[in-house]
Amino acid sequence: MDTQPFHPPKRVLMGPGPSDVYPRVLEAMSRPTIGHLDPAFVGMMDGLKSLLQYAFQTRNALTIPVSGPGSAGMETCFVNLVEPGDKVVVCQNGVFGGRMRENVLRCGGEAIMVEDPWGAPVDPAKLKETLVAHPDTKAVAFVHAETSTGAQSDAATLAGIAREHDCLTIVDTVTSLGGTPVKVDEWGLDAVYSGTQKCLSCMPGLSPVTFNERAVEVIRGRKTPVQSWFMDLSLVMGYWGAGAKRAYHHTAPVNSLYGLHEALLILREEGLDNAWSRHAANHQTLRQGLEALGLSLLVDEEARLPQLNAVRVPDGVDEAAVRTRLLQEFGLEIGAGLGDLAGKVWRIGLMGYASNPGNVLYCVSALEAVLEATGLPARRGEAVAVVEAALAS
Ligand SMILES: Cc1ncc(COP(=O)(O)O)c(C=O)c1O
Repeated sequence: MDTQPFHPPKRVLMGPGPSDVYPRVLEAMSRPTIGHLDPAFVGMMDGLKSLLQYAFQTRNALTIPVSGPGSAGMETCFVNLVEPGDKVVVCQNGVFGGRMRENVLRCGGEAIMVEDPWGAPVDPAKLKETLVAHPDTKAVAFVHAETSTGAQSDAATLAGIAREHDCLTIVDTVTSLGGTPVKVDEWGLDAVYSGTQKCLSCMPGLSPVTFNERAVEVIRGRKTPVQSWFMDLSLVMGYWGAGAKRAYHHTAPVNSLYGLHEALLILREEGLDNAWSRHAANHQTLRQGLEALGLSLLVDEEARLPQLNAVRVPDGVDEAAVRTRLLQEFGLEIGAGLGDLAGKVWRIGLMGYASNPGNVLYCVSALEAVLEATGLPARRGEAVAVVEAALAS
């Protein structure tokens, strides 16, 4: 057992998350811990809520970071909105939609599945048909950006269909927030959760959530108590609610919240539009480099996430061996395929701070070297030259 102080190796994080954390965020987290009910801290919390409203593009008063990773934000949405016997339509086109189904079942609800192939976006026509067949549906749940496949669904259209059928929406934006547009108010999303470790480039372990008035009304009208004491928003809001009077619920992760505050300041300084265009531009450069290596992307162009590139593993290549060499020889982390896509794709993230031209160049040149060493025919230097030309143009 190693009981020495832990100094992590230097890595470049280009997997599905966590992404490289901004140095400013790491510095903010090392500031002295103060009490979570200290008036100075409470002032910071108010700023944090308004920065989160900016990130989500919402005026929702109930916009807070849940103390726990993206999965805790997901559970917060489901346990507060789904009661025993409720019918929820869950759209699944990858791993994370399956987790939504599991949440519905654990809340005692009935999950009606709308299934799409992994790598494709959710099909709005199928959702429409399902809601017509199930007019007693309470909520529609879907993943905006499927990290397991790299596909983005049309959240505005799906939410519009849900609203036409008088259903609430529960939306996963863990991988989209900060990387591609998430417009909670404009799109009419009701309950939304995200994560800090992807395009916000903050440490893992917090989950921003936002609930609109419609969702808050549903919580107020519950017939049964929320089965999770920790995630019961009527209790949590005693701490995060408006006004100077805050009641103790649980000890907030003080230093992590400093980190999120700083990450959101960085996002606001850059501006959402600029952050979205940066992610799109770096993705295009990476795509050109990957294609020059003879590799192809899983997802059709219209639905591709710029921050998560699922790359088909060429026949005869040992995908795990490639990832291991990238990590050991280049300190570069990329992700493996999950679920149905295990062994079939690599997942290359270009998220937040890690979405930059230097990382694109590094990743393509490291892949070129490793693929050549595994025997795949590569014309040395060609892919790197393509990336360099794209960056220079
Ligand atoms: C789309 C999506 N939803 C939910 C989660 C769960 O987040 P966490 O691992 O922070 O609990 C992830 C994590 O990768 C994700 O990509």
